[in-house]
Amino acid sequence: MKAKAFKTYLRPVVFMADLTNPERRLLAAMQGRHGKWTLEEILDACNWDDQAIAVAAGHGLANHGLVTQIENSSSDVILGSEGEKAAKEGLLEARLWSFIKQNPDASMKDLSSSFERHEAGPGVGLLKGLGVSIQGGKFTCEDSDSVDAEIAARSEFISNPSIDSGLYEHFKGRRNLIETVESIERTWEITSSGKSIPASELKEVERIAEITPELLQGDSWKEAEFRPYDVTLEATIPRTGRSHPMQALIERIRSIFLEMGFSEIVDDYVQTAGWNMDSLFIPQDHPAREMQDTFYLDEPKSIKINPELLASWKAIHEHGGDTESTGWGGEFSEEISQKGLLRTHTTVNTIQYLAENPKKPCRVFAIDRVFRKESIDRTHLPEFHQIEGIIMEPGANLGMLVTTLKTFYEKMGYPEVRVRPAYFPYTEPSLEVEVKWRGKWLELGGAGIFRPEVTEPLGITDPVCAWGMGLERLAMLVLGLDDIRQLYISDLEWLRNQPIL
Ligand code: PHE
Repeated sequence: MKAKAFKTYLRPVVFMADLTNPERRLLAAMQGRHGKWTLEEILDACNWDDQAIAVAAGHGLANHGLVTQIENSSSDVILGSEGEKAAKEGLLEARLWSFIKQNPDASMKDLSSSFERHEAGPGVGLLKGLGVSIQGGKFTCEDSDSVDAEIAARSEFISNPSIDSGLYEHFKGRRNLIETVESIERTWEITSSGKSIPASELKEVERIAEITPELLQGDSWKEAEFRPYDVTLEATIPRTGRSHPMQALIERIRSIFLEMGFSEIVDDYVQTAGWNMDSLFIPQDHPAREMQDTFYLDEPKSIKINPELLASWKAIHEHGGDTESTGWGGEFSEEISQKGLLRTHTTVNTIQYLAENPKKPCRVFAIDRVFRKESIDRTHLPEFHQIEGIIMEPGANLGMLVTTLKTFYEKMGYPEVRVRPAYFPYTEPSLEVEVKWRGKWLELGGAGIFRPEVTEPLGITDPVCAWGMGLERLAMLVLGLDDIRQLYISDLEWLRNQPIL
């Protein structure tokens, strides 16, 4: 019998939230009766039928220093396969001996024919060990009483095996008659700190492991305890489907503008040079209109534009029309105006929206794709996105425009914004918007107030604040990129590791 007290870790204070419900139940039971508790007693007192719960609770309380756990490991003897057989049919030497006593003249041959072949030989060996010998072909024995007594003792052992018996060693030496098994018996005893825990603190409580919306609707959580989590443990990152960072960024920008009272407009990216440039008073000989800068289409090569509109653009471009402007001079080509192209900026969306709604004050935005013949490098792509917007209302002015853009970038997380004078053929005054990032000012877009050359032919009378900004530039800031191409190469590892925007 070996007995060793389990190590207990005594802590000065045990926080009740540290005890599991089974630990509380067990400690409460043990406070009711001090002294040793066996597993059976615990199962009974705590109304459990799962030994594992009882052992875990006892172990847990021992770790808290509230109980002592004593382990007694003991060896026991049970019958082996031959032992089971002997228990039913009798030990081999007992069967042989009673045969010899009944047949005093029996020879070795008789024995062999009355018993199994593999029994006779070893059986005779066992009898010889007890003092039986063969003389003149017959079995004789000087002290048959002692043989009787020894066989009776052995039979008794088989019917009631015990490790403490003197015959244990004898049977250990015989094949498959007995087996020795180790067993551990645990007992638990409450410690003085276990006794000192007030019973009121051992009430079992519902422990909440997951906070759900349903849970928060009721009041039950107010009384409940929450299962503590160790947030410093390593955990695997869940790999689930998610939006591409560009899409996520678009969604975020969209909700900011919607929140600021803007409505979204969407339009086709196949447009005419007339709407993309002429309506915006971009001269027909402007370098940006060249083949090497703009994608003109073969199909549709040209798209019809309302002749009245063409006539008013012609007048504006050639001499300023009814405005005070002198226009660009030269000759305006209606053919050039009707050329099909891929839009080079989203200003083509807002200007068409205004042409359709020239009198209705509005705040609209678009986040859409534009195309320019750029060679691809670290900061350029031939296909990219712009964030476009306008405010048209009586009294709209430059201050309102700057405030709107500052508010937008502030909501995006860039509070430092500045504007600088710039030039666009369609706005006056014109601005460049810059955002401070890692100590440097970065240009993110253009803005201004539409010129009369743009608004008058369309019948617009209120001032229009307008802006157009690069989405990919902003994405580079948000995601901390120094190469714009990273956004579109579908690098799964990179995509997985992007922040949630
Ligand atoms: N369309 C301009 C660009 O593509 C930006 C801009 C829009 C400037 C509206 C002024 C007003 O850069």
